[in-house]
Amino acid sequence: MITMKPIQLFPGVYKIGGALATRSLTPGFKVHGERLLEAGNAEYREWNPYQSKLAAGIACGLHALPIKEGSRVLYLGAAQGATASFVSDIVGEKGVVYCVEIAPRAVTDLIRVCEKRENMIPILADARKPSEYASEIEDGEVDVVFEDVADPQQAELLKSNARFLKKGAAAMLAVKARSVSSVEEPRKVFEKVKRELEEVFELVQEIDISSFEKDHEMLVLRKK
Ligand SMILES: C[S@@+](CC[C@H](N)C(=O)[O-])C[C@H]1O[C@@H](n2cnc3c(N)ncnc32)[C@H](O)[C@@H]1O
Repeated sequence: MITMKPIQLFPGVYKIGGALATRSLTPGFKVHGERLLEAGNAEYREWNPYQSKLAAGIACGLHALPIKEGSRVLYLGAAQGATASFVSDIVGEKGVVYCVEIAPRAVTDLIRVCEKRENMIPILADARKPSEYASEIEDGEVDVVFEDVADPQQAELLKSNARFLKKGAAAMLAVKARSVSSVEEPRKVFEKVKRELEEVFELVQEIDISSFEKDHEMLVLRKK
């Protein structure tokens, strides 16, 4: 355990001695071997931008984080729950993170994380078929949709999940150029994805995160 002073970057997100961190909702419990940091009477978890595209977006200059204390977040492509657990720290006990993941093996690990964190709900489902999990989402509505799915139809997938957002609500999309096209230049793929999203979303910020994840960018969007 390391003791240092946290500097707040966004509500719920801190910089501690050069490392990104969130205040842990479950002190003493590590999700994926992350370093634990102590400040005052609280425990923080180091959030590595090389292992999380959301952390990479923050490290690369995100202007405003739409995920806040109390937010209801639909997280598409939760895998074993590593990044989703940091989102869980940020939204806190009053928020909720619906974690959609298609791979049963990953969901087995995800469930272990969700057992420790009451604000995380595991959903074994295909994010391309939102009608199959719509009934699990309270009131059929969330504040933010976050997508990190390596699918050639990344934009379509996000658009189909926009049904859970009110007008003006936020979405974040980690675009993996190589999933859309293995031959096209990433810049061209990013332009194509943005065009596909235009019908449903307004672009708020586009962040190049390739210094942490090759051929990736993070889009911050607002539902039209
Ligand atoms: C890059 S990983 C996500 C990593 C995770 N967001 C994190 O930072 O901890 C992408 C995940 O999306 C899942 N996935 C792929 N296609 C999916 C789909 N159609 N629906 C739901 N999950 C999907 C994969 O099984 C994989 O676990």
